[in-house]
Amino acid sequence: MKNLKDKVVFITGGARGLGYAMAEKFAAEGAKIVIGDIQEALAMESAEKIQKEFGVETYAFQMDVTSVENIKAAFAKVKEHFGKLDVQVNCAGIQIRCPSKEFTEENWDKLMNVNLKGVFFCCQQAALLMGDSGGAIVNISSGTSTQTTPGRAPYVISKGGVNAMTAVLASEWAEDRNGKKAIRVNAVAPGWILTNMVQDGYRLGVVSENQILAAVPFKRLANPSEIADAVVFLGSDESSYITGQTLFVDGGWSALGMPAMDLIK
Ligand SMILES: NC(=O)c1ccc[n+]([C@@H]2O[C@H](COP(=O)([O-])OP(=O)(O)OC[C@H]3O[C@@H](n4cnc5c(N)ncnc54)[C@H](O)[C@@H]3O)[C@@H](O)[C@H]2O)c1
Repeated sequence: MKNLKDKVVFITGGARGLGYAMAEKFAAEGAKIVIGDIQEALAMESAEKIQKEFGVETYAFQMDVTSVENIKAAFAKVKEHFGKLDVQVNCAGIQIRCPSKEFTEENWDKLMNVNLKGVFFCCQQAALLMGDSGGAIVNISSGTSTQTTPGRAPYVISKGGVNAMTAVLASEWAEDRNGKKAIRVNAVAPGWILTNMVQDGYRLGVVSENQILAAVPFKRLANPSEIADAVVFLGSDESSYITGQTLFVDGGWSALGMPAMDLIK
């Protein structure tokens, strides 16, 4: 039993792409959905669509995960609106592709502030709101966290950091309560999915479909719903003894161990 009916699930970056697919899957299980996204209008529109399609309560607001003040305000809204939080999914993330020799300090800060600082402080505030009731946190990493992919070093570093963060927070928050109503912290590392992020890569000519297919044993990209299935599993009671893990959902990419693709140098 997934046991997600009426659970409150907060998804950062849930307005579109993978986050939206996750929101749909949790809603299909009867969960109440909160979407916090920097794109306010899209967040509202997406929440409304989910409410209409699945008949669950939804709540959306504008949120910038690079600001701790903003994050605290977002969790205060969730507390005020629902009085609790059961599942936190940290999906907001950005990609900046650029050879390392040319990467600027400004872009480093921009990327790390979303992909690492944002995830850490969302985990912190989620854990504080979950409190003694416990809960589940799922961080969205990337297959690139271990499948070294050139031309996007800070992104790869940030996602490696998400895997490490997931393990250390899991151990801290399991020990707090000896595993009883612990806050489980896991990550999902998606392989290649045709979302805006990958379409941008095609458009910029820094990755092609053929390169991806050569590296992925399944010889196809994932559907967003296949990533969302793994996130729902880790957010539900079906994974009640799993914590600190990064689950690779990548069509065998990491198993094949094909390292650096010949992208931009
Ligand atoms: N698409 C892929 O192939 C792929 C592969 C591996 C990992 N991922 C990861 O999955 C996650 C989602 O990726 P996606 O492909 O759906 O991307 P996307 O760009 O379609 O969606 C990202 C969402 O995050 C939001 N966002 C960006 N900056 C934000 C901020 N500062 N505060 C709040 N929200 C913000 C965006 O508005 C958007 O709705 C990211 O963490 C990404 O790194 C994607």
